Amino acid sequence: MKILGIVCSPRKNGNTEILIEEALNAAREKGVETEMVLVADKQISPCDGCDGCVEDGVCVIEDDMQEIYQKLENADGIIFGTPVYFINVSAQAKAVIDRTYAFLWTRKLRGKVAAAAVAARRIGAGQVLSLLYSWFTVQRMINVGGCIGYGRDKGEVKEGVGGGPGSTALGEARAIGKATVGMVNRLSK
Ligand SMILES: Cc1cc2nc3c(=O)[nH]c(=O)nc-3n(C[C@H](O)[C@H](O)[C@H](O)COP(=O)(O)O)c2cc1C
Repeated sequence: MKILGIVCSPRKNGNTEILIEEALNAAREKGVETEMVLVADKQISPCDGCDGCVEDGVCVIEDDMQEIYQKLENADGIIFGTPVYFINVSAQAKAVIDRTYAFLWTRKLRGKVAAAAVAARRIGAGQVLSLLYSWFTVQRMINVGGCIGYGRDKGEVKEGVGGGPGSTALGEARAIGKATVGMVNRLSK
């Protein structure tokens, strides 16, 4: 089993990365292989709507998304993380989401287990989780839920609260890591 974490903050070592790392730590404790991709290290253009992928599911834009397509295809579970930017996902996250249009036609994400991790200072984390859940649904992924971590400056999420009553950000991150592994296991039985 392979779980892929995708960090869509432009800020390295930031709160989204901490949430994803914690989720992947929890997954590794269950004995599974994990990988983390930092979109901040990548050049990913927005979808240009050329519809070149409609026939064969192959995106013609030659950039770092090609490597992420491979990683998405090889993953059993995907934990997708973004900071909240103006009550929305980051521009980096939107570029990745839109570029998965190429996979819509070939249903390459169908049946993969998906979870979301959202870092926010104060407002909009619930809306962003809903946006990510909608993307999972359109791509026919199996949604095991999401975590919220509150914090503004880098690292604040380590002490931050989560979205649920009484929960911590890191506790919620660990929960989605475990839920992702649990669902992949159930589906493979
Ligand atoms: C351009 C921009 C827009 C933001 N918009 C919001 C927002 O709408 N709501 C919110 O709660 N935090 C907002 N924030 C704060 C970030 O979501 C918060 O600092 C988060 O922890 C950043 O995660 P990161 O360290 O992974 O980049 C914004 C930050 C930036 C830079």
